[in-house]
Amino acid sequence: MKLFVAGITGATGQVFLPLAEKAGHELVFHVRPKSKDKTPLGSDPRARIFDLTDDGALDDAIAGSDAIVSFVGTMRKRFSDGDDYATSDVGSARSLAKAAKRKGVPRMLLLSSVGAGGSGAYLKMKLACEDAVRDEGLAWTMFRPSILVSPADGTESHHGKREAPFGTTALFGALGYLPGLGNVSLDYKPVPIALVCKGFLEALAHPERYDGKVVLGRDLWALSPS
Ligand SMILES: NC(=O)c1ccc[n+]([C@@H]2O[C@H](COP(=O)([O-])OP(=O)(O)OC[C@H]3O[C@@H](n4cnc5c(N)ncnc54)[C@H](OP(=O)(O)O)[C@@H]3O)[C@@H](O)[C@H]2O)c1
Repeated sequence: MKLFVAGITGATGQVFLPLAEKAGHELVFHVRPKSKDKTPLGSDPRARIFDLTDDGALDDAIAGSDAIVSFVGTMRKRFSDGDDYATSDVGSARSLAKAAKRKGVPRMLLLSSVGAGGSGAYLKMKLACEDAVRDEGLAWTMFRPSILVSPADGTESHHGKREAPFGTTALFGALGYLPGLGNVSLDYKPVPIALVCKGFLEALAHPERYDGKVVLGRDLWALSPS
C-alpha cells in the first residue's frame, strides 16, 4: 500500500517507520523545513520537505496514496517555539484531510488521544482534530491511546522518548482488578508505541474492520500477544 505519513519525525513516527517498511508499505513522508536538519529523515529520498500549510506541495506529495497516516501534534512546552494546538494539531489534521479530499486519497488514520472531547484544552482540541477529518467525508480510523511509551531499544526522535509517569502503569493496571473496570483499565493504562503502531498496521490491512472505528486502548491491548 502507498502511504503518506505525517509526523514521522516524532516519537511515534520513528517507531512506525521500520514496522511499516517491514509490512511492505511504500512510504512517502512529510518533514518540515525547520526540522529537516534535526533528523536523518530530512535527507531521505522518500521525504517531502514543505510546510503542511502549502496546499500545492501537499497535493503533490499525497498524489496516488492509498491512505494518509498522521502522528502530528505538539505539546505546551513547544508553544514558545511557534507551534500550538491550533496550527500543529487541528491545522495539520484539517490540511491533510482537505488535501485527501481534493486528491482522491480515500482513507486517513489519525493518532488522537484517550478522552478526546473531554474537559480541558488538550482533549477538546483532540476532538477538533478528529472532526476536521470526519468533516471531509473520507474513510477514517481514529486512535485514542493513553500515555505513550517509547521502546526500550533506544528508538528515539529529536523530540525525545515518551515515558509513563512513575506509578501510572501500576495504578491503571490495578484498576483492572476491580469489577466492571477492566476496559477502563486497558483504555487508560500507558501503552507501548509499538502496540499503537501495530494497531495502525492492522487498520491499514483491514479497512472492513477499521473504517469508521475509534480504536481504544482495549482494542490495542487485544492485539498484544502477552
Ligand atoms: N505522548 C503521549 O503520551 C500521547 C498520548 C496520546 C496521544 N498523543 C498524541 O499522539 C501524537 C504523536 O505523539 P508523539 O509523542 O509521537 O509526538 P512528537 O514526538 O511530539 O512528534 C510530533 C510530530 O508532529 C510534527 N509536527 C508538529 N507540529 C507540526 C506542524 N505544525 N506541521 C507538521 N508537523 C508537525 C513533528 O514534526 P517536527 O519534528 O518537525 O517538530 C513531529 O513529527 C500527538 O498528536 C499527541 O498529541 C500523545
